[in-house]
Amino acid sequence: MQSYPKQTFALPALDGISPAQLAVHLDLYAGYVTNLNKLRDTEGDLMQDPERNAYALAEVHRRLAFEFDGMRMHEIYFAQWEGQPAPAVPVGPLAMALAQQFGSYEAWEHQFKALGMRRGIGWTVLYFDAKLQVFINAWVDDHEHGQLTGLPVLLAMDMWEHAYMVDYAPAKKADYIAAFFRNLNWSVAEQRFWTVAGQRFLKVS
Ligand SMILES: [Fe+2]
Repeated sequence: MQSYPKQTFALPALDGISPAQLAVHLDLYAGYVTNLNKLRDTEGDLMQDPERNAYALAEVHRRLAFEFDGMRMHEIYFAQWEGQPAPAVPVGPLAMALAQQFGSYEAWEHQFKALGMRRGIGWTVLYFDAKLQVFINAWVDDHEHGQLTGLPVLLAMDMWEHAYMVDYAPAKKADYIAAFFRNLNWSVAEQRFWTVAGQRFLKVS
């Protein structure tokens, strides 16, 4: 069976996210890939006799979404820092579209950051629903609970404590959120938006 590869990321030196923090986090990401591949192998073995292995298979399938989404969300996350930091351009298609829905780019960013400050571990995610041509800010518990089916992720902010606790105490997670945005290469989110919405969105705007 084909295995998922561990991706590498072309990350610059980050402002407010230390190399030690990054190393810990990248190791955790690698663990999700390893565990996902193991789960898929195990599933293949257990499926030799699914009736006899029903209980074990149920556990494999329960964990599959956790490991898969853990892998994929981190790939989305680290890719947002690749290249070099580039803030949102007010006249860029994504910032303009966000401003149209939320009143201003800053209003959207304020809401997104506020969502990140909620208690618990998970992800703050900006989705785009092409069906209604709307953005949705959402919270995802763990990696998989609360994902919105079929909607592409434009931006994902990891709010697990492992994402920042090497550098920041839990009470200082607002500082981590600020660092997350300072280091963002906004053009990555722009490209994601363009891929899913592109000219269609601009036409109806
Ligand atoms: Fe993480």
